[in-house]
Amino acid sequence: MGTVEQTHDKYRLVPSVAEDVKKSSCRAAAVCLGVLCLLLLTGLLTLVGLFTKGNSEWEMKMFLLHNSFNNLTQERDQLQTSYNNLTQERDQLQTSYNNLTQERDQFQKRVEDMAKERIDLRKKLQDQYNKRGWVYFSGSFYHVSSTKKSWQGSRDDCVQKGADLVIINSREEQEFMRRFPKPLWIGLTDGEREGRWKWVDGTLLTQSYWILSEPNGHMWRDEDCAEISNHLLNSWNDDLCNSEKFWICEMTLLL
Ligand code: BGC
Ligand code: CA
Repeated sequence: MGTVEQTHDKYRLVPSVAEDVKKSSCRAAAVCLGVLCLLLLTGLLTLVGLFTKGNSEWEMKMFLLHNSFNNLTQERDQLQTSYNNLTQERDQLQTSYNNLTQERDQFQKRVEDMAKERIDLRKKLQDQYNKRGWVYFSGSFYHVSSTKKSWQGSRDDCVQKGADLVIINSREEQEFMRRFPKPLWIGLTDGEREGRWKWVDGTLLTQSYWILSEPNGHMWRDEDCAEISNHLLNSWNDDLCNSEKFWICEMTLLL
């Protein structure tokens, strides 16, 4: 610390005081420098910290991006494979479809051709049968005899022709019968059991067209065979089976 000494220059500071001032200035400068350095260091460390942090965040982002990229690439490849497989399957299906369409068209044409052939054949057959006295109606040919026989004799004749006595199983068929001009044996009998009328194919009678108060064979004569006896809708009568009558045969054709 400087002291004021009295010399010939009354108020001149002694060197020790100047030194003190100088020293404290130096100290202040050093402190400032130190603080500055500290600040610089802090700044530097902060920068390094920030840089490092930023760097690791960037690295993390890159890592995630890389991962996403790899996953997407993998998915894209799988999708491409699926797409290729599906394309292949679609092409195979298209080929099958084309083949099936072609087959269907051929089949359809064959069906049409066969339908035409069937019609032609039926016409030819009808011509042939018509020439021999058979009449076509709704899937069957009918033939009326020109001689008279017992019911069984009539039936035998039909069977010999590849037919049988007529079985009437629809109202239309019964209506059709009205066009024939004479009494005719039909394929219906209760010879097995009185009152139980059966057709010649073994089926039981359901829909009948008896004349009013027929069948009456159970009353005084054993009339076990049925005939069509007039041109009315209800035209059936039972009569003695050995009576000789005309008859009508039916031949069913699957045409
Ligand atoms: C009767 C019939 C009978 C027939 C015999 C008719 O007069 O009405 O029921 O079957 O004679 O020929
Ligand atoms: Ca009768």
